[in-house]
Formats: sequence, C-alpha cells, structure tokens
Amino acid sequence: MNILVTGGAGYIGSHTCVALQEAGYSVIVADNLCNSKAETLEQVKQITNKEVTFYQIDVTDEVAVETIFSKHQLDGVIHFAGLKAVSESVEKPLAYYYNNIVSTMVLSKACQKYGVKRFVFSSSATVYGENKAPFVETMTLLPTTNPYGETKAISERILTDIAKVNPGWSVTLLRYFNPVGAHESGLIGETPSGIPNNLMPYITQVAKGKLDKLRVFGNDYPTVDGTGIRDYIHVRDLAEGHVAVLDNLTDGVNIYNLGTSQGISVLQLIRTFEEANGIDVPYEIVARRPGDLAECYADASKAERELGWTAKRNLVDMCRDAWRFESRMMLKRRKNSDSKPSKSNTRPEIGKENMPLYDCEE
Ligand code: NAD
Ligand code: UFG
Repeated sequence: MNILVTGGAGYIGSHTCVALQEAGYSVIVADNLCNSKAETLEQVKQITNKEVTFYQIDVTDEVAVETIFSKHQLDGVIHFAGLKAVSESVEKPLAYYYNNIVSTMVLSKACQKYGVKRFVFSSSATVYGENKAPFVETMTLLPTTNPYGETKAISERILTDIAKVNPGWSVTLLRYFNPVGAHESGLIGETPSGIPNNLMPYITQVAKGKLDKLRVFGNDYPTVDGTGIRDYIHVRDLAEGHVAVLDNLTDGVNIYNLGTSQGISVLQLIRTFEEANGIDVPYEIVARRPGDLAECYADASKAERELGWTAKRNLVDMCRDAWRFESRMMLKRRKNSDSKPSKSNTRPEIGKENMPLYDCEE
C-alpha cells in the first residue's frame, strides 16, 4: 500500500516512515522542510534499507499536492505536516491557522477528487483543554488557550464533517500525548531549532552543557511532587500506533489517544534521565508557565481494545534514546567542525559505557 506522509521529514513523521516501511508499506513524503532537513530521510533509508519517495512541497499548495495524487496510486494519507510551537502560535496566529487548517483542507479535497479514502490526522491532547485527566476520547472538547490547539480542534471538525458525507471514508484522529525519545540507532530524533520549548529537548541541552540549567515551571501544582504531570510516550511507540491504525481501519471517524496512560512529573523525568544516563541535570524551580495544565495524561485503553496497540517502551528507554541521539548529533557536529570540545562541557564523554553508539559513520 502507498501512503502519503505529509511532514515525513519531521520528528514523528520520520519515525513513522520507518515503522511503515518495516511493516511493508511504501512511503511517499511531502514536506516543505520548514522545520526539518532532507537528510533525515537519508537516515530513514539507512535504517530501513528502503527508498523513500520525497517531494519538497508545501501542502497548502493545491497544485503541488495534486501533482503527487496524480502521479501515485495512493491508498491513504497520514497528515503530520504542521506548525507546532504553542507560544509561537500566540504570536503568529494567522500563520498557524493558515498552515495547519488550509493544509488539512487541501489534502482532504485532493483525497475526494482522487478517491483516496483513508486519512489519518495528527491531533493533540491539547484539544481536551481543561478537562480532568485521564482524558478519554468521548470527552467534550474544551477551548484550548492558544491558536495551535484551535487548529487541531478545527481540523478534527473539518475531517469529521467530510467523512459524514463521503461513504466509505475512514478518518482517524490521533491525539498524541508527549512524544519523546528517538530511534535506538541514534540516526533520527528530535532537532528543535533555537532554545527548546519542550521539556526533554531542554533536558538534553542542559545535559550536554549547552544550557546552564533547566527551569522547572512551578512546584505548587496539586500533584505528587508539585510539578506538572504529563504522559510521555516513546516516539517509536507513537509511530507504531500509526501502523496499528492502518492495519485495523474501519469506515467512519475513529478517535484514539496515543499515550501510555501513565502520568510522570517533571522531577520524575529529570531523575530518570540522570539515572539512565549517569549525567546530572541541574535545575531551579521558577514560576508556573502561563497556560500549563497541572495534569495531562491519557486513558489509552481504546487503542488497546480496538487496535491491539499499547506503548511498549518505558521511561528509561525514552531517556536513553533521547540522549543517544543528542550525543550522536554532538559527535557529528564536532567531527564536522573538527574543533576541540567546548570548555563548558565537563560531563561524561558521549558514546561510552552505558551509551553504545551504533556504527553509523556517514
Ligand atoms: P515537526 O515540526 O518535527 O514535523 C512537522 C513537519 O511538517 C516538518 O518536517 C515541517 O517541515 C513540515 N511542515 C510544516 N508545515 C508544512 C507545510 N505547509 N507543507 C509541508 N510540510 C510542512 O513536528 P512533529 O513533532 O513531528 O509533529 C508532527 C505533527 O504532530 C504536527 O502536526 C504536530 O502538531 C503534531 N503533534 C506533535 C506533538 C509533539 O509534542 N511533538 C504533540 C501533539 C501533536
Ligand atoms: N517544563 C518545564 N521546563 C521547561 C519545559 C517544560 O518545567 O523548560 C514542564 C512544563 O511546565 C510541563 C512539562 O514540563 O509541566 C511538559 O512541558 P512540554 O512543554 O514538554 O509539553 P506540554 O505538555 O506543555 O506540551 C506538549 C506539546 C504540545 C502538545 C501537548 C500535548 O508542546 O504541542 O504536549 O499534550 F499539544
């Protein structure tokens, strides 16, 4: 089966390309590389030993999208392409609404025209708003506090309405919780540009000495240790969730939480990272970050029941794999610049002891 993966050069998309190819699907990627590099697809190829067909296009561009649909006999679309930084969406609402909603409309229009009936959409736990965790798919969605979250809720509604009038369509809305980690080869992972907003990439930057210390946003939440609770899920498990969806499609609209059903606090994640990798992560407690929820975690039992999917990897795996990827990137940068290690980096040498690196010389 041929699957069009929009945003396939990105963090979750690239891991999903690997999972799809390993499961026997053929992958066609459409990505404008606004937050990724084409090189990532070379790494995907290196992992799976299979070709990825790549189109560098913007999926809001109707003509470019139709070119792909007319050239390939597509069996389904997984739509990852989108802008995803919550705080940036507050500053640039139009860019977010345009990119994230128009892309969904352009792709579903092409699906209608070319008779492609399977559509999987990357939504987010953020659509639950201030519901009380654990979040269940049947909950009424509450307003989110930012344009990014609204683009997800609106795209969900658009796709639901389209499915209603198109018999035989299968639309799957996947609500992701907090993806972290990387492929165990260390070849693909998360590469945020600039200073990261999210916790795990921030931790790895502190671990490698690029940033001084982590700021923990609030320790006065009504949680186990006062810090925020999230449902961290290994990106490989998340990717495999997409394969489970394609393997178990039913007509109509289906919604699934992809999470572990386990809430982890910020301090628990820091400690696990330190223990798993033998590295200190200095931190300080600062004020709460505006818009943050105290608790956000899934009830992921529906995906288990209906798709036979559950997350298999644990928090230690997530921490190890995230650090292995970051370490490999650091070695690669050093090799490229042929420079000495920076003075500030006094932490254990990467790739030693508990951090075996794969033989992945380019
Ligand atoms: P990412 O930024 O790594 O990947 C998104 C990819 O889409 C990038 O490669 C980018 O270049 C591409 N892209 C963006 N706009 C495009 C456009 N108009 N045309 C073509 N390509 C475009 O992000 P990710 O973490 O892999 O997230 C994938 C999807 O999952 C996004 O829709 C995101 O909103 C959603 N999601 C992510 C998280 C998370 O924490 N990472 C959580 C919930 C939902
Ligand atoms: N945190 C810190 N310090 C940091 C970064 C984060 O203490 O430097 C804390 C946050 O306060 C929160 C937890 O770590 O308690 C997780 O924060 P992230 O920014 O990593 O993730 P969020 O849960 O805020 O948001 C993420 C994505 C959203 C997505 C949501 C879905 O960024 O796009 O998960 O659950 F919608």
